[in-house]
Amino acid sequence: MSTTFQLDTSTSRANPTPAPMKRLTVPAIRQRKQGGLTAEPIVMLTAYTARQAQLLDPHCDILLVGDSLGQVIYGLPSSVPVTLDLMAAHGAAVVRGSYHSVVIVDMPFGTYEASPEQAFASAARLLKETGCAGIKLEGGEAMAPTVAFLTQRGIPVMGHVGLTPQAVNVLGGYNARGRSEAEAAKIVRDAQALADAGAFAIVVEGVVEPIAVAVTEAVPCPVIGIGGSARCDGQVLVTEDMLGMFERVPRFVKRYEAIGDIISGAAARYAAEVRSRTFPGIEQTYQPK
Ligand code: KIV
Repeated sequence: MSTTFQLDTSTSRANPTPAPMKRLTVPAIRQRKQGGLTAEPIVMLTAYTARQAQLLDPHCDILLVGDSLGQVIYGLPSSVPVTLDLMAAHGAAVVRGSYHSVVIVDMPFGTYEASPEQAFASAARLLKETGCAGIKLEGGEAMAPTVAFLTQRGIPVMGHVGLTPQAVNVLGGYNARGRSEAEAAKIVRDAQALADAGAFAIVVEGVVEPIAVAVTEAVPCPVIGIGGSARCDGQVLVTEDMLGMFERVPRFVKRYEAIGDIISGAAARYAAEVRSRTFPGIEQTYQPK
């Protein structure tokens, strides 16, 4: 079923046709995994803008406003410089552009690690200003008290273990995690600590298949892999990677399109028409209804 949008010019709101299903909730996502099994895998993609959200929303369970927007949208070298202001602005746009998916907004580096109180203030701001359903934060056992603090105060938390890109300066790069037995065991313990603290779901990034499976089997809440294993309870990808917007993509990403080539090709054809003065006049492009 394809969804189209009609622009309400008085509000600039694009209304979907057919009318959307009810928005999913965090408890509905949590309950997808019962007794260690997830009958219906969870579909999650990143979204940063209202229009992108409109296009992805009918197909997804969760839209993640990832701090990867630092690199993807703003050309930053990592997610470290991303601010709460940026996350709030993009989070609000994605909520405005979606009707069905649960919208989760990433807490950026430096806005939650210092104390549970700091995390609560940042997360509450994101919930109030964006209308999102919950937040995601990176880190394992060290963040468990913060996860408990937030969930006990009305803020749903998605965890993120394995490769945690905000820690790039400690890790020294974006290489796969869990290569030694001790590191693999630590990733499983991290996920268990977050689940015990009340995380409703956990992203596991940059780990080999056996670790992704071990994490999935170790915790009662859904585990969402990013290329880890088809046996995770759900999958997430950065939408621009999946669409082929960039030349370089992580090894685990499947490209479903080559959007970068399509945009570049369209711009080249437009440029050629302008330069050769064959750009069509209004009488050729305007189609009266
Ligand atoms: O920021 C992000 O896009 C993410 C996903 C890769 C899970 O955290």
